[in-house]
Amino acid sequence: MMKLAGAFALLLFVTTAALVGQTAAPNPLPWAYGFVTPGPDPVPPPCPVDAKPYTCSRPGKPWVDDGILLELPGSSRKFTIGQIQAHYDPADWHPEDHPQPVPAIVQNGHERDRLRACAHCHYHNGQGKPENGHLTGLPVNYFLQQLALFRSGGRTSADPRKANHAEMTQIARLLTDAEMKAAAAHYSAVRWRPWVKVVESDTAPKTRQSPAGLFIPLETGHEPLGQGFIEVPEFPDRTERLRDPHAGFIAYVPFGAIEKGRSLVTTGGGKTSACAGCHGPTLQGVGDMPAIADRTVSYTVRQLYNYQQGTRHSQLMGPVVAKLSPDEMIAIAAYLASL
Ligand code: HEC
Ligand code: HEC
Repeated sequence: MMKLAGAFALLLFVTTAALVGQTAAPNPLPWAYGFVTPGPDPVPPPCPVDAKPYTCSRPGKPWVDDGILLELPGSSRKFTIGQIQAHYDPADWHPEDHPQPVPAIVQNGHERDRLRACAHCHYHNGQGKPENGHLTGLPVNYFLQQLALFRSGGRTSADPRKANHAEMTQIARLLTDAEMKAAAAHYSAVRWRPWVKVVESDTAPKTRQSPAGLFIPLETGHEPLGQGFIEVPEFPDRTERLRDPHAGFIAYVPFGAIEKGRSLVTTGGGKTSACAGCHGPTLQGVGDMPAIADRTVSYTVRQLYNYQQGTRHSQLMGPVVAKLSPDEMIAIAAYLASL
């Protein structure tokens, strides 16, 4: 009996190890997912299909509310750190950016389901951050189609370590139709603000990573960039602590990336199709097509790699990315971000 149980435990161990090995294939573009190594560590928290969204996340250290009112350049409002960082009903620095009133789901989420407010991760104006995504001005049909894909498992992260993607999936699964439509209508009505600067370099600032995968530059020190890229907030404190929806990002990319990307994006270069054919002449989207210009390098690279790995399903984008190398994905994203 004991022997049998032992053998069974061993079998279970081997199968689990094989499965883990399978899902955690080395990732050639770890920076796009908020990591510096290809994996498989660190393991994300378990996220079964009925999990409450926040239980799937990799939480940061909670902020202690000291009651002090803080200000932000360009806003006349004042909030405490607790209000700024709130998961439900977070501070809105720039109400003039977006339609009023803000739908309840965007402002509050549902605390009972541990479903954090959309505005906590994507901001009230949808500009988002590289580790989340950019919702500003997305076409309503596209927005709803993507929520449906998250729900059905048709849009997952090629790198299973990305815990906030799993949280987004669980969020989509809990939304009512009315909430999805209200959020889509809200964000689609906001105008995009220029957001990313691209710098070609062979070094980048040294960084640390937030638990959600934002790279935060350290006060001093640079390190070689190699063939990768590093994207950091332009004003680290305004982004990380104050959650300023007007403070953008700087992407450090290898020398030559922008020109290489320009050629691929505008001609296809025999490796892909010219993007303007579908995403519109300025690449700011057209009809139901999403904008791809001036989005963060991390977000764009992640999407291209997810499409290529098939974890993000798309009949039209699949062939576009099929032959691209990791370097070419970085070059395309760098050129698009430079627009
Ligand atoms: C915990 C943070 C978090 C919260 C809260 C959150 N999202 Fe997301 N959302 C993400 C992440 C992460 C992604 C991008 C995943 C990826 O890399 O593809 C995303 C992507 C999206 C996209 C796809 C954007 C695109 O361009 O394709 C939509 C639409 C979206 N979220 C809607 C919502 C709505 C609506 C809410 C509120 C009900 C919400 N999100 C709340 C993290 C969050
Ligand atoms: C044949 C049409 C077509 C072409 C050509 C095309 N795309 Fe797309 N792309 C789409 C469609 C449709 C979607 C959105 C829906 C989906 O995922 O299928 C999309 C979505 C995307 C997204 C995700 C946007 C988001 O908000 O998540 C990115 C990034 C992207 N495309 C990049 C590119 C790049 C870069 C090129 C050129 C190298 C390109 N596309 C060429 C049709 C196309």
